[in-house]
Amino acid sequence: MLSSGPLSPKGRALGHVNGHRPFIHRKIASVTASPAPLSGDSHRFCVAPMMDYTDRHCRFLMRLLSRRTRLYTEMVTAAAIVRGSDPARFLAFHPSEQPLALQLGGSDPVQLAKAARMAEDWGYDEINLNVGCPSDRVTSGRFGACLMAEPDLVAACVAAMREAVTIPVTVKTRIGIDDMDSDAHLDAFIATVAATGCDTFIIHARKAWLQGLSPKQNREIPPLNYGRVHQLKRSFPRLKLILNGGLKTPQGALASLRDEDGTRLDGVMLGRAPYDTPYMLAEIDRLFFADTAPMPERAAVTEAYVAYALENVKGHTRMHNVLRHIINLFHGCANARTWRQTVARIGQEASDPRPLVALARQLEEKRVLAA
Ligand SMILES: Cc1cc2nc3c(=O)[nH]c(=O)nc-3n(C[C@H](O)[C@H](O)[C@H](O)COP(=O)(O)O)c2cc1C
Repeated sequence: MLSSGPLSPKGRALGHVNGHRPFIHRKIASVTASPAPLSGDSHRFCVAPMMDYTDRHCRFLMRLLSRRTRLYTEMVTAAAIVRGSDPARFLAFHPSEQPLALQLGGSDPVQLAKAARMAEDWGYDEINLNVGCPSDRVTSGRFGACLMAEPDLVAACVAAMREAVTIPVTVKTRIGIDDMDSDAHLDAFIATVAATGCDTFIIHARKAWLQGLSPKQNREIPPLNYGRVHQLKRSFPRLKLILNGGLKTPQGALASLRDEDGTRLDGVMLGRAPYDTPYMLAEIDRLFFADTAPMPERAAVTEAYVAYALENVKGHTRMHNVLRHIINLFHGCANARTWRQTVARIGQEASDPRPLVALARQLEEKRVLAA
């Protein structure tokens, strides 16, 4: 353990820890947030839309870690985009975030089509319709998971959006809701929506209980059923099916693509795991896309993210809002706590984030020395 944290009270980085020998700084390859060119298999690994988490700062960080992962915005209602006075608030993004999907919530085909068109104009690569959120607020607005009970309406929404844009329109859904969780119901739902020409479905492999469970419980209590998603792939081999729910590691996610009988899903979507352990994304390009580029190092990622923070903290964007996403970067490493505390303090004080770069180097090199 570092005795009093690796930063001096003035925030200067210390060159040594507890009087032990100084670190020898290796040269660290710099990292830029540059997406790889779009390819047909870019749904192979996706990071899930997560309200209050996958904002544009979070997505910039994720892009520093993986050039190929497909990123999703938090859900934005079509009404907020179409009726609001400031669409940039919902639609603006950094070009490096691409491939990037905008997730829309809504059930009015006309409004969804307008919002989708605006999103295409802003440069999004995909529109995703939320048919999986179980929250009361969303259900009372007649969107999210409750729409599984209205396949014809979902089909009308998807058809209207497909008519309005040239980019792909996809659907994120569950394997059922309440007592409407039979194989026949899910198959009929997918068939009805796919008949519009929509060919990509992200399936959260558990049902949602719309009465009595909170959104958090609905991500934990109904059991996962990956077999049901593989079964769907056997029934609809031409559709692109992306598996979501409870996947924790890149290796486990890769293994879950293939079923015992050889059925192969087209991709995976992970949410909580990459947020809690962002450095797992550094493995994704190699593992899922056979990319041979070296993995970015945490210190280089920190350097690029700190530069981004310095550029982007202005107006309503506070340092804390940007830095909060990097707090788990050293998850599982020695001295992760020191990192978390330092990031939290700099975020709260809104002080200069540049000492984080020196700290990241120290932590990384300690890791290398200990290896
Ligand atoms: C904090 C939080 C916010 C979420 N917000 C959304 C959302 O806006 N839209 C959506 O489709 N799903 C949302 N989800 C669900 C995730 O996209 C994903 O389906 C779910 O977490 C299961 O995947 P995981 O086990 O890999 O996290 C959210 C999940 C969490 C934890």
